[in-house]
Amino acid sequence: MDADQLLADAALEASPVVANNAMNRLRGLRGANSYAKELGFDPVELLRALPSVPSWLDLCCGRGRVLIEAAAAFGERAATLVGVDLVEFFDPVPGDRARLVAESVTRFAPSRTFDLIACVHGLHYVGDRLGVLSRSASWPASVRSHYVREPACAR
Ligand SMILES: C[S@@+](CC[C@H](N)C(=O)[O-])C[C@H]1O[C@@H](n2cnc3c(N)ncnc32)[C@H](O)[C@@H]1O
Repeated sequence: MDADQLLADAALEASPVVANNAMNRLRGLRGANSYAKELGFDPVELLRALPSVPSWLDLCCGRGRVLIEAAAAFGERAATLVGVDLVEFFDPVPGDRARLVAESVTRFAPSRTFDLIACVHGLHYVGDRLGVLSRSASWPASVRSHYVREPACAR
């Protein structure tokens, strides 16, 4: 296939491949269909160990369920939880415990630093995924951990 036959990011984002309703947007924190399973660690346990207010940015967050569960798992402890997804199809967030933003990760730029930046089963829907990775790697230096789990790339 020639490069000019590939979809540009804008066309890809508008395509039914990316904005379809069958994809799994509902991974939770723990259990069979979860971030803990995909990442190989429990994000809340990792963040709990931090002395300050923990912060987590979830790129391609789907319906945001994992952040909503994380907010509940933190209980009274403050935490900054931000999710970004192209499709505004989010679960309701109790109170203001998490912020879910409808925007493409190809354009999103955070206005603060995060302890954990995760992306689970998201980048394979992005055309310029290396661009997203390199931009996110340049986000402010106190970003301490950047985990990407892409099974298709790992093979
Ligand atoms: C398979 S779902 C995974 C959702 C979530 N991470 C989970 O594991 O439950 C992939 C998600 O990536 C989102 N997505 C695809 N392209 C995107 C883009 N350019 N910017 C932001 N989100 C995108 C889709 O809307 C979808 O919610």
